[in-house]
Amino acid sequence: MHPRALVMAAALLITLPTAAAGLRDLAQAAGIHFGTAVNVEALNTDAAYAHLLAREFNLVTPENAMKFTVVHPERERYDFTQADALVAFAEAHAMQVNGHVLVWHQQLPDWLMQGQFSQDELKAILREHIQTLVTRYRGRVASWDVAAEAVGEDGQPRDTFWSRGIGPDYLALAFRWAHEADPQAHLRYNDYGGEGAGAKADGIYRIVADLRWQGVPIHGVGLQMHVSPDDAPPSKDLRANLQRLAALGLATHISEMDVMLPVPASRANLNKQAVIYRDTLKVCLAQPQCRSFSTWGTTDRYSWIPEYFPGKGAALLFGEDGQPKPVYESVRRVLRAARASKR
Ligand code: XIL
Repeated sequence: MHPRALVMAAALLITLPTAAAGLRDLAQAAGIHFGTAVNVEALNTDAAYAHLLAREFNLVTPENAMKFTVVHPERERYDFTQADALVAFAEAHAMQVNGHVLVWHQQLPDWLMQGQFSQDELKAILREHIQTLVTRYRGRVASWDVAAEAVGEDGQPRDTFWSRGIGPDYLALAFRWAHEADPQAHLRYNDYGGEGAGAKADGIYRIVADLRWQGVPIHGVGLQMHVSPDDAPPSKDLRANLQRLAALGLATHISEMDVMLPVPASRANLNKQAVIYRDTLKVCLAQPQCRSFSTWGTTDRYSWIPEYFPGKGAALLFGEDGQPKPVYESVRRVLRAARASKR
């Protein structure tokens, strides 16, 4: 081949992937990870779903596959079938995995909740649970949601199975145990409803600040961002919240974003949704400590919203048919405008 033809072919190779770039490539150029929750059953059965995941995202969180009920269904038995499938898929497509979730008061199995365990037994169970998962995926799962939703709506520590059974230091213990099992892993606290201003955001701040001041190995905070056009936090409040968390030396993450709408969704609401996603992503991109932006699902077909919020749905970037919605284009535009050099 003529040398100039070679150069042109090389240039084509470089420019072609950009022309077809998914959000993951644009996000990478902008210096963040772009993620989603993954439904492993869909991953195993729906090729179009798997294709969409690999094209658009470079960070995945198992929607349910690593939760206590799924992964540890009996005291002496773990089931890693789904979790292993997800991690293998992520590795095959150069995606990071965020493990989810080690200490949470939901989706706990009956053997645990009805077991009448003493404080010491519960500590031993939780330690073994955490260290079994984190050790198994050491070096393969880059970050963990170690603890979630430990703050109540009033901003006070939530009274839960774990806080009652182990005592208030269960959070510090969980982070220490996870860190022991994988000292390289990025350990996060994850919560909802505390993205902007208010009692809950302050409660989350107090809990993570307290862990930092105790020297507990916590590295990041995930703000879930399950919102609707009626209650999405103003950008200025989200910005201030991300800034104060960053000032504690913590990374931040928009960890589970979806914007639920009354269904069928009106054009006006789809446009509002696009604006809310766009503004949230902009705030994250402008804050150097904001490392990732994840949605809680890919297509509206597999979203958790219709089941948990009857009459609501259409919350994600892709429609039931897997096609991009108006919000997709607005997210894409923001990512494209962002430059790695800014971060
Ligand atoms: C949800 C899943 O999406 C559902 O499939 C499941 O039935 C219940 O949990 N915050 C979280 C997630 O951190 O783990 C929740 O996931 C949604 C709210």
